[in-house]
Amino acid sequence: MQAKRIVLVRRPTGMAEAADFSVEQVELPPLADGEVAIDTLYLSVDPYMRGRFGGEGGPHSALPLGSVVAGSVLGRVTASRAPDWAAGDFVLAGTGWQTAAVVPGSAVRAVRTEGLPLTAALSVLGSTGVTGYWGMVDIGRPAPGETVVVSAAAGAVGLVASQVARIAGARVVGVAGTDAKCAHLASEAGLHAAVNYRAADFADQLAVLCPEGVDVYFDNVGGPVSQAVLRLMAPGARIVICGQIAEYNGERAPGEVSIPTLLLSRGASMQGFMVMRYADRAAEARAQLARWVADGQLAYHETVVEGFEATVPAFQSLFTGANLGKLLVHVAD
Ligand SMILES: NC(=O)c1ccc[n+]([C@@H]2O[C@H](COP(=O)([O-])OP(=O)(O)OC[C@H]3O[C@@H](n4cnc5c(N)ncnc54)[C@H](OP(=O)(O)O)[C@@H]3O)[C@@H](O)[C@H]2O)c1
Repeated sequence: MQAKRIVLVRRPTGMAEAADFSVEQVELPPLADGEVAIDTLYLSVDPYMRGRFGGEGGPHSALPLGSVVAGSVLGRVTASRAPDWAAGDFVLAGTGWQTAAVVPGSAVRAVRTEGLPLTAALSVLGSTGVTGYWGMVDIGRPAPGETVVVSAAAGAVGLVASQVARIAGARVVGVAGTDAKCAHLASEAGLHAAVNYRAADFADQLAVLCPEGVDVYFDNVGGPVSQAVLRLMAPGARIVICGQIAEYNGERAPGEVSIPTLLLSRGASMQGFMVMRYADRAAEARAQLARWVADGQLAYHETVVEGFEATVPAFQSLFTGANLGKLLVHVAD
């Protein structure tokens, strides 16, 4: 069986480019005992991958040059010599940017969708949903009436995190990069307000929307957006540092003030976390998220790009904001 794979061949400078990858056609090996063959149905593109492309120094290990880009996929077993799997089973695997793969049966997991469509396993019930849930519930800990700001609020993590805070009774202000995303956040996600950080008067609009200051900031982006939000921190604010996408391509705005100094002056705390910390509580998050989706309290969204060949442009589009909700690449039916 043949498969196409996308391999990292050069470490990007700035935005990752098509020339940083090569698309290879390979013959998959015959199945050994205990192995399964899977076809990729959907693959995930995620901002953290940029850190893995760039070498050492980030929170994630560097992806060796010449490796298939690693990441989560939703697949279907096409052949099995593993006792737990049969052809036709839907599985989650870490096989990354390739159309098919042969892996040990122990390396794939059953898809649990709690009654939602299959792709939910990579979006609202996937790693990004769990991140938004636990980051907000366990670290942000929003109380009724508090003001919560979420950056990249219309993205995969942000859309969940912001609605979790709304469900907890907080006043939630989302930050996103287009007016259309802001409209979605107000209408579909039911946030108190949403503001476009590309507006010239973004900082002023945010200050008007947060007259008592910001009690919880769930930060997905860093950079100038966070500079504006952190200036509005209320005393004792909780800052959830979930991601810093504005810095992943190596850009830094001139004149940025020191965030630690701002924290010091307000007696605020900032806490980083990685979703892996909640690995043994993921099922709890999935069950709650699914209940909220089912009873209409939580709206989730997926942006699906067609075709394996669109994988690298799809990944690049995370940095220009083309996605609403979880960005997925549809590879096959
Ligand atoms: N801590 C963890 O364990 C963990 C787990 C998963 C994800 N994360 C992090 O969480 C963040 C969101 O990840 P995601 O998977 O949900 O991606 P996403 O939000 O679905 O996609 C990225 C979004 O970021 C926004 N963006 C891109 N560049 C930006 C910039 N320079 N300034 C402001 N906004 C920018 C874009 O939306 P706009 O149109 O609004 O600009 C884009 O849609 C990332 O930083 C990611 O690394 C952390």
